[in-house]
Amino acid sequence: MSSPLTDPLQRKPHTVAFLQRTFRNKQFDEATEAIRRSHKTTQGKNPKSLMLLGPSGAGKSTIVDTYRHFYPDVAREDRIERPILYVSLHARVRVNDILSALLDACGDPEPDKGTTRALIRRFNRLASSLCVKLIIIDEIQHVLPEHTHGRTQEAADTIKSITRDTQIPFVLVGLPHASRLLTDTIKGKHEEDQLLRRFNASVEIMPAALGSKAWKNLMAGYQQIIGVPCINLTDEEMLKRIHLATSGLHGFVSNLLEHALEETDGKEQVCIKHLARAFEFTTGSLSKVGNPFLLPMPQVERALALRANV
Ligand SMILES: Nc1ncnc2c1ncn2[C@@H]1O[C@H](COP(=O)(O)OP(=O)(O)OP(=O)(O)O)[C@@H](O)[C@H]1O
Ligand SMILES: [Mg+2]
Repeated sequence: MSSPLTDPLQRKPHTVAFLQRTFRNKQFDEATEAIRRSHKTTQGKNPKSLMLLGPSGAGKSTIVDTYRHFYPDVAREDRIERPILYVSLHARVRVNDILSALLDACGDPEPDKGTTRALIRRFNRLASSLCVKLIIIDEIQHVLPEHTHGRTQEAADTIKSITRDTQIPFVLVGLPHASRLLTDTIKGKHEEDQLLRRFNASVEIMPAALGSKAWKNLMAGYQQIIGVPCINLTDEEMLKRIHLATSGLHGFVSNLLEHALEETDGKEQVCIKHLARAFEFTTGSLSKVGNPFLLPMPQVERALALRANV
């Protein structure tokens, strides 16, 4: 039988350890603070929800995951308290699917059963008995239909109705176009009825720009959590090569380093040849410019300049 160290179907221990670590940067702290600002308004006169937006791989889910783990379920003698209710939506959901997902997260035995109004009523009751203080819905862009406006309005109205009845704010997490949930549901609505009025300003998690302090800090963060000897990820050349490979997105950097770690035994230094191999595994022939870790520096610079002009 193979041991965990040699099992070919398991990631290496130093890779697993890397994937379990997160680090905070300015955007992370600002987003966390914005979530807290909404969280604080729970059960008050005017609960204020929040949209946390950003491109895929920007690090949104990691921020809300970290936040919600500070508020775990509490087992009382006679009941469970669930201070934060978290659901993640799947493609093309309708309003009843959102309600069913929320009911399911509350432990409802038949989350799909009932009309929209019955589902809302049941959810409000359950959320109150579980002492829910904040509702996080990830992948919220899935409520936006391709063509019809009706479903967006329906989703907005449902969120508004739950907040009004329970005084619990929402944190809605998703791709940038999910902001339509707020902006496309204004027309024809009195100010009093708008969802927008019940939200604080949206927070956008943006990829770090090449040359910015944020990019250098991001790579310094990865250097810290990599956990094994590794070449300097923050020297000017490496910052350019990695940016060309990842566009400054957490998700791509993390993938790249994960594969580079799998190329090493956990003792030797992670160096550029491991990053080059990792790039082949993560992006490979999809790259339009070649492998940023094999190209001579002038070509890397040219590719970056071309990308900036697109
Ligand atoms: N703060 C962080 N520290 C360490 N790794 C991170 C951090 N943020 C993100 N990552 C890495 O990047 C990956 C992608 O991040 P995450 O899933 O949070 O992005 P996302 O914005 O939610 O993307 P999507 O829109 O596709 O769901 C994570 O699985 C993790 O490996
Ligand atoms: Mg996510």
